[in-house]
Amino acid sequence: MDPIRNPYAPGAGQRPPELAGRDEQLAAFEVVLERVAKGRPERSLVLTGLRGVGKTVLLNALRGAAVRKGWGTGKLEARPGQGLRRPLSSALHQAVRELGHRDEDSVDHVLGVIKSFAHRDAGAAAKLKDQWSPGIDAPAVRGRADSGDIEIDLVELFTDLGGLAADVGKGIGIFIDEMQDLGPDDISALCAACHELSQSGLPVIVVGAGLPHLPAVLSASKSYSERLFRYQRIDRLSREAADRALEAPAADEDAAYAADALAAMYDATGGYPYFIQAYGKAVWDLAPRSPITAADVAVAAPEAESELAVGFFGSRYERATPGERDYLMAMAEVAAAQDEAEGDAVLSADVAANLGKKPQSLSPARDSLLKKGLVYSGERGRIAFTVPHFGRYLRERG
Ligand SMILES: Nc1ncnc2c1ncn2[C@@H]1O[C@H](COP(=O)(O)OP(=O)(O)O)[C@@H](O)[C@H]1O
Ligand SMILES: [Mg+2]
Repeated sequence: MDPIRNPYAPGAGQRPPELAGRDEQLAAFEVVLERVAKGRPERSLVLTGLRGVGKTVLLNALRGAAVRKGWGTGKLEARPGQGLRRPLSSALHQAVRELGHRDEDSVDHVLGVIKSFAHRDAGAAAKLKDQWSPGIDAPAVRGRADSGDIEIDLVELFTDLGGLAADVGKGIGIFIDEMQDLGPDDISALCAACHELSQSGLPVIVVGAGLPHLPAVLSASKSYSERLFRYQRIDRLSREAADRALEAPAADEDAAYAADALAAMYDATGGYPYFIQAYGKAVWDLAPRSPITAADVAVAAPEAESELAVGFFGSRYERATPGERDYLMAMAEVAAAQDEAEGDAVLSADVAANLGKKPQSLSPARDSLLKKGLVYSGERGRIAFTVPHFGRYLRERG
């Protein structure tokens, strides 16, 4: 069919033509927005899930909902080894601009606090030229959010922002993607600041997204984090939602799927959103005409799989060293051999046994894979792939 009209959008963070199966999260967030703007107690929201399930696009959609309510919003993506001050300052600068508060002096004060918060990044003794600035013209407000203790500084910063938002009866939403990659000090300060916010009723919320072990990261940092955040597991789509993800965009282009084609698609994709987009794209291009049939799906499968092998699996696999690849392969073998009821996670001890090595000798490889975000450990002693179907990919690649 006409590739120019192909509606599907495989790719990290790519907005899907139809955001299927997330109505519940979107509706719940509307309530959160209303409550927070009214100063009611609300927990911050954290989306967790494997790679490719649609956390980033859902986070963006939630941000869009906040913008439509007139909120000030800002987003950042955490990166390993990078401090929170700079990206957060940029995000908050954006949020203040979006808020559109009319009183220039109040806005300049808050922007000045953001600036002094950012300046503290280089350390107190830094020369002016080393100070990084988030493009803010207002003069820095010395003595506010610049103590150097990130926890104190965040609380001061959020308090001033919350005051500004409360003035206009709106809120501030801070959206943090790949939240598990924040450093331990930043995580702990963020928890403390959210704790403070929840008590003061200020209209500021943090909405995070990250890998499945993010709740464990947060609770290891602050034991009260379980009460602070509402965790939403983002998972593969139900059959019904997966069908809608494929059918609705096709219908917009006057195309359709035969019933057996939809069944074949769900079989191949397992309902994982990234796979749905990749298969949808490949099938559309290769099918001779609408309606798309199961036979078309079979013809397009190798094309879809090779796209995924490059764009989704390969780019991650390439980050692993040869030793780490052996570890990944052993994980894949152990996972294939174990009972389905045991889930996707495998015991690190079984991986070591599979490789005929002592567990301790493998901990550098394991730690490095954890740092690279290829595997995660949600439970002590267990380890799992962050990428769905990764074990199958490895076994097939041999
Ligand atoms: N609810 C959904 N319905 C249909 N497609 C989706 C949905 N959520 C995500 N996708 C698609 O899945 C892919 C991965 O989304 P992304 O948000 O990057 O996942 P994650 O951040 O969890 O790794 C993208 O191609 C996106 O268009
Ligand atoms: Mg993402």
